[in-house]
Amino acid sequence: MRVRAHAPGRVNLIGDHTDYMGGLVLPMAVDRGTTVVLERTGSRVVLESGDEPETAIVPLDVADPSAVEPAWARFVAGVVSVLRPDVGGVGTVHTDLPIGAGLSSSSALTVAVALALGFEGGPVALAQACQRAEIAATGVPGGIMDQLVSAAGVEGAALLIDCATLAFEPVPVPAGIEVVVVHSGQPRRLVGSAYAERRAQCEEAERRLGRPLRELHRDDVEGLDDPVLRRRARHVVTEDDRVRDCAAALRAGDVAAAGRLMLESHASLRDDFDVSTDALEEAVARLAATPGVYGARLTGAGFGGCVVALAEPGAVTEGWHLHAVAGATIEAL
Ligand code: GLA
Repeated sequence: MRVRAHAPGRVNLIGDHTDYMGGLVLPMAVDRGTTVVLERTGSRVVLESGDEPETAIVPLDVADPSAVEPAWARFVAGVVSVLRPDVGGVGTVHTDLPIGAGLSSSSALTVAVALALGFEGGPVALAQACQRAEIAATGVPGGIMDQLVSAAGVEGAALLIDCATLAFEPVPVPAGIEVVVVHSGQPRRLVGSAYAERRAQCEEAERRLGRPLRELHRDDVEGLDDPVLRRRARHVVTEDDRVRDCAAALRAGDVAAAGRLMLESHASLRDDFDVSTDALEEAVARLAATPGVYGARLTGAGFGGCVVALAEPGAVTEGWHLHAVAGATIEAL
């Protein structure tokens, strides 16, 4: 049996470093993604990629995905280790996503591979399986935003996801605005260890406060003695409010308000969460000063990578102009 699976990448409009604390996020699946064509056969998964010199060869009984070489094959191995399919496959991977730039090339790969290997179930179960696969591949305790929007995206809309319940609803991107993603020029660095440290700090703040951060408000976290934990928690609780407000602003067609909230989100990620860099600051400042730009912010984990802006059509000439698309698909060939 020969199949073709496609999974989109994503850009997050607002709501970063909230998903793993059960908070709110507002990403959209984009018109760039990853396609896997697979002949289902054999007891290994053998995939060639147009972007990688080495073939991924993963036995169906792979034990430790994080030890597999070449490195990109770890994502394939992660999916195999979670799904444990009875039959492997031979095929190809093609992507038009920039790799490691912050548009979730890894989630597009795991979601497409999972579908190609015969995953059956709804988008939430698919996203949960792929989240486990990525954690097994990288050791980084990532949240579920990237996989869920790749699986469940809606054409023309961002998804407002409640990461505590995994309920999601589309928020249409207003007509007449562009979503532009610009690379800061700085590859993402130290993402794994620094990301895990941020998550651990949020969990410690939550433990000391004795209640889930998502149930708390800004005043509640000001009582934390530790200044670092206080800032981390303040980012999370205020970011949840900004996501809610931004979704409402987009629904009301108030793009100016949405843009202001994006700038506030960026400042919080910089000042309270410490995940911005000089290159990201430079890119956000340049975009924010461009006539016709409503707002801009770092998107994804930070520490380098990309910036997202909302703009009038034609206002920004650099970067990728992205459109919201439907989630992942699978078809028999
Ligand atoms: C990475 C993770 C996501 C999310 C973002 C930050 O993209 O994969 O789960 O935590 O960082 O919002």
